[in-house]
Amino acid sequence: MSAKLINGLEIAKKRREEMKQKVSELKKEGITPHLTVILVGDDPASKSYVSGKEKAAKEIGISSEVIHMVADATEAELLAKISELNHDADVHGILVQLPLPSHIDENKVIEAIDPNKDVDGFHPINVGKMILNQDTFLPCTPHGIIKLLEAIDCDLEGKHAVVVGRSNIVGKPMGQLLLNRNATVTYCHSRTKNLKDLTKMADVLIVAVGKAHFIDASYVKEGAVVIDVGVNRLEDGSLTGDVHFDSVKEKASFITPVPKGVGPMTITMLMENTIKAAMRLR
Ligand code: GUN
Repeated sequence: MSAKLINGLEIAKKRREEMKQKVSELKKEGITPHLTVILVGDDPASKSYVSGKEKAAKEIGISSEVIHMVADATEAELLAKISELNHDADVHGILVQLPLPSHIDENKVIEAIDPNKDVDGFHPINVGKMILNQDTFLPCTPHGIIKLLEAIDCDLEGKHAVVVGRSNIVGKPMGQLLLNRNATVTYCHSRTKNLKDLTKMADVLIVAVGKAHFIDASYVKEGAVVIDVGVNRLEDGSLTGDVHFDSVKEKASFITPVPKGVGPMTITMLMENTIKAAMRLR
């Protein structure tokens, strides 16, 4: 079998067109959705993600601002900035780009963000609501992956979904969103024994480990849907996923490329969350 490509860029573009319409309706009502991103330090990958967010916001008509704090900014300075934004009625969404420098407590920072402005869906209140399957801001990468699966009409009901990776940003919420759609979910991680035995059982295999080409065809069941969340830079400067695309595409029924697979959907879902936050003011 040669897999069909899941074109995240095209699917994201379509959603962004729909969003433009929604934003222009909101503007007619005097509401311009506004996202504030806080970037601490100069990590090149973080800078590049943040500029991608700014570009997408501009394209859709969302107003956005990046607050750049120096790498040795204190935790107290960051918390004070978040408090200021929490109280600013013109700011609908707040995102603090992760990872933060090691002298800043990430959990404290996430908990300081007003849950009604937490467009990342990382605040414990929003994580709790997600687990309870209540309406809330859903974390952008896993939510974007659900939308990709919907776009290819992948019915998750009763399917065995295997998630490789258990980060708070991707793996953990991914499993929960799949469970909320009645998939049977297995979480795998760095301590999992017999990883291959488990991944070979997957109808839907989601890989988010941050290791280039970690999953090759020998880990994949014939006909599986394979979603690659990894973005790894090779020595030649090119980007590649956690999945060995060339071998896995011969076995899977659908596969996401890297780049232009999951990435564009993550940013798109952030914009959707920002619009959702602004719409609460209606
Ligand atoms: N760093 C990598 N992914 C993300 C994300 O989705 N949100 C934030 N805030 N930081 C990240």
